[in-house]
Amino acid sequence: MAPKSRFTRLDAFTKTVDEARIRTTSGGIVTILSLFVVFWLAWGEWADYRTIVVHPELIVDKGRSERMEIHLNITFPNMPCELLTLDVMDVSGEQQHGVMHGVRKFRLRPTSEGGGVIDSKSLELHGETAEHLDPDYCGPCYGAKAPTDASKPACCNTCDEVREAYAQASWAFGRGEGVEQCEREHYAEKLDEQRKEGCRIEGGLRVNKVVGNFHLAPGRSFSNGNLHVHDLKNYWDTPIKGGHHFSHTIHSLRFGPQLPDEVIKRLGSASLPWTNHHLNPLDGTTQQTDDATFNYMYFVKIVPTSYLPLGWEPKPYNTINPAEEKADLGILGVSGDGSIESHQYSVTSHKRSMQGGDDSAEGHGERLHSRGGIPGVFFSYDLSPLKVVNREERAKSFTGFLTGLCAVIGGTLTVAAAVDRGVFEGAARLKKLGSKDL
Ligand SMILES: *[C@@H]1O[C@H](CO)[C@@H](O)[C@H](O)[C@H]1NC(C)=O
Repeated sequence: MAPKSRFTRLDAFTKTVDEARIRTTSGGIVTILSLFVVFWLAWGEWADYRTIVVHPELIVDKGRSERMEIHLNITFPNMPCELLTLDVMDVSGEQQHGVMHGVRKFRLRPTSEGGGVIDSKSLELHGETAEHLDPDYCGPCYGAKAPTDASKPACCNTCDEVREAYAQASWAFGRGEGVEQCEREHYAEKLDEQRKEGCRIEGGLRVNKVVGNFHLAPGRSFSNGNLHVHDLKNYWDTPIKGGHHFSHTIHSLRFGPQLPDEVIKRLGSASLPWTNHHLNPLDGTTQQTDDATFNYMYFVKIVPTSYLPLGWEPKPYNTINPAEEKADLGILGVSGDGSIESHQYSVTSHKRSMQGGDDSAEGHGERLHSRGGIPGVFFSYDLSPLKVVNREERAKSFTGFLTGLCAVIGGTLTVAAAVDRGVFEGAARLKKLGSKDL
């Protein structure tokens, strides 16, 4: 034996000499079984280490981005596109009347004829310019002031510009009878031709991240002091039976980019069944009425939500990215590093007839409605100061994985040793008993 050194006394792993060891069949079986168990558990550890979980956090939204996109796709089966106006306004004082870049109107055939698409037109400030006109032509604005953005300063050369001028002067316009620009463009005929049609509005708009509202209401809108007014004349004076009304189907309404499918799949996995933030509560909802005075209101509470993929590193904090302002519609919030800034929302809705009355038809006679207002579909939105951050993470770190691996190997071998010992002693005892009986 080697001479005893100073460290010998410290050896925690005392060894037995080979002559004192025996090998048994049962020991062999237990060893093989324990190896299987080790492999099986080690595989489990590895799978655990490879798993990506989505870890939600709640933080105060410090508002890195100042703008938000609204994507909408709404069908109105009984509202002609010519009459339907989309307006956006917010508490910062920004107003966008009847115009949006990136929003298209689709004229739809009457529902009785299948409701197919007739044609589509993007919403633009200027409709058709009257090119065939004499270049010196300067149309009268009939007493109203020419719109500031008229194609020719101080002139109203198209029906659209006359209507705009009327709207800015807060005058009702009607069908444009006696207005030469509109008669030339057959405005009234075009309007009447569309009377039975429906309209689908789809596209995206960019708004400030402050409290605001957007609405779809009939007729051209204008601001009269602090009042927002719609020219409803053409809506009420309709020649068709039953008139127009604001039944609608919301195909989709979301704020910010949609999560990519693969992310949704991961989110929907068993680990986080309650994360349903790829679901927008209004998608696929329909409201039916045949009352022209019906007004629908949706109160939307928006919760900013971001999604950070695995390995995402925070960038040095910079204030508003100037490129973001100019980014094309639809890509705001999707950055190159894979992170997604989007929004979830919750919504409550309310509908009422502007003729007043109560809800006795629905068994709620105690609910009284005020009279007056504008028919249409109104969305008012509000933003939550709290933000949900969904961060992808590994369920386990690499050192955690190694620790787990050691625990699996050590633990299994210890248990196996105990089992083997038990089997060996049991067998020895049985043998002893047997020899006594003889
Ligand atoms: C809007 O919804 C209609 C009807 O479901 C659909 O055909 C159309 O493709 C949608 N538009 C967009 C931009 O998703």
